[in-house]
Amino acid sequence: MHTLPWEEEMKVSALQQARYSYNPKLPLILREDISKIRPVLGQKTQSVSDQEKLQKLFPNTYGLPKVSFENGEKKDAGKKMNVGVILSGGQAPGGHNVISGLYDALKKANPESQLYGFIGGPSGILEDKYIIMTDELIDEYRNTGGFDIIGSGRTKLESQDQFAVCTEVCHKHNINAIVIIGGDDSNTNAAVLAEYFRAKGESICVVGCPKTIDGDLKNESIEASFGFDTATKTYSELIGNIERDANSAKKYWHFIKVMGRSASHVALECALETQPNICLISEEVSAKKMSLSQIADYIAESVANRAAKGMNFGVAIIPEGVVEFVPEFSALIKEINELLAGAKAEVFNSLSTWKEKYAFIENGLSKQAMEVFAILPENIQQQLFMERDPHGNVQVSLIESEKLFSALVKAKLDERKKNGTYKGKFSALHHFFGYEGRCAFPSNFDADYCYSLGYNAFMLIQYGYTGYLSKISNLSKPADQWVAGGMPITKMMNIERRHGEDKPVIRKALVELDGKPFRFFEANRDTWAVETCYTYPGAIQYYGPSEVCDLTTRTLALEKGQ
Ligand code: FBP
Repeated sequence: MHTLPWEEEMKVSALQQARYSYNPKLPLILREDISKIRPVLGQKTQSVSDQEKLQKLFPNTYGLPKVSFENGEKKDAGKKMNVGVILSGGQAPGGHNVISGLYDALKKANPESQLYGFIGGPSGILEDKYIIMTDELIDEYRNTGGFDIIGSGRTKLESQDQFAVCTEVCHKHNINAIVIIGGDDSNTNAAVLAEYFRAKGESICVVGCPKTIDGDLKNESIEASFGFDTATKTYSELIGNIERDANSAKKYWHFIKVMGRSASHVALECALETQPNICLISEEVSAKKMSLSQIADYIAESVANRAAKGMNFGVAIIPEGVVEFVPEFSALIKEINELLAGAKAEVFNSLSTWKEKYAFIENGLSKQAMEVFAILPENIQQQLFMERDPHGNVQVSLIESEKLFSALVKAKLDERKKNGTYKGKFSALHHFFGYEGRCAFPSNFDADYCYSLGYNAFMLIQYGYTGYLSKISNLSKPADQWVAGGMPITKMMNIERRHGEDKPVIRKALVELDGKPFRFFEANRDTWAVETCYTYPGAIQYYGPSEVCDLTTRTLALEKGQ
């Protein structure tokens, strides 16, 4: 008897099934036979600053030259290799494609080579927990979102003891190279591990791949981290849908917090995609030293202006980390951390009512800090004292800043009502978009970019390059114009003060206020604040015309002057 599709056991969705046969696009050079691709060394590199200090810290891997790939015979290509791969940190769409690109290149070069996937992130190599990748396994994950093929984790590989364990595990399995797929911290640690191996006379290579939806691992050498494209497209679809609902119902102001930890690249990209009434940019808040009250005034002005035109609705995008960039708020957080340090937390916790706790707080905070604390809505005040990390510090990322700002705006509007300068209605709804985008099916851009990053990572390690980040550039152009190569990680480093110590780290990219994406936003936002200029990006398209399916981000297009 004929069975209908929904009567059969559904194992994977129709889209997942279709995506299995999507063929990611590689830069032209990587489409050549692997034995016909040869590395070409460019100039020696210098770190972005602190050159002398970094040279001392990385005596074996500092100043390496840039690498690019060109056509040409390479005689020793194709030797058998064992490679380990690690996913590190938060999920980002395309991680599975980095692994499948790496796997395909490794097996093409020599079918006997093996790919070890360390389970659960960097801790996988420390605990020697791994799987050996097979065609069947890889085929189940091609072009899919998530990191579930081997899982990820936030353990940091940074101590000498951990590096010694990594060496043992690599020896045990004859691993010649490790590919670390991670953000700025994980790739910083990749560079330190690469240096460790060289210093110990080990030939094991370490190569990184730039991952994070936050978009803050980019610089002169790296145009974009993977996952940013898909995550921002996913959030922008949702924001566009909300805008259309707001414009249909005409009765709500939506406060939408978007992920991105400290930098505001995600918020800015979503604003460029959807043209909301308001988008806060943390880096600007910090540069202008804005107070909570000034930010609330800025939003209330848009609400009041729109209300005067009969539009009691709107959309405001709030970047996840914004409160940390408000100077008076970070000062308050510091004082709260002090107030509850050590045994004082027990005294606080023993108080049974909020009234008693409030008196304790009032007594312990400075006058300035108390003034900021007092204007916060009660639920946020309580959150500051409840949600604490294992060290007892306030977990700023858990603060519901979308609710905080809508409450502060409401208070501002109430004042305006009293003095007769505002007659509108203000009804707020709140959203937080983060996990909705981190594991989406990678867009064609991310599917292609990630596959290329993984494939290219293999090219680097097969020629013994270590301490490099896999680099695919010219990304705002079609994939056949992409350029493949590698950049020494030390080139992207500087020295920063972290936890009271000077540390070599990859410089984190914040939104540049004189950069083209921000300047474009700045030139348009006053109009967007008052008028209704929403744009509706719709869902990511995986099949159809290239101008809809292969779009990069507005950020990248503006940065590249398109
Ligand atoms: P990575 O920097 O590790 O890529 O993680 C990015 C991110 O998604 C941030 O945007 C967010 O603040 C954080 O991870 C949340 O992580 P978790 O779910 O582990 O708390």
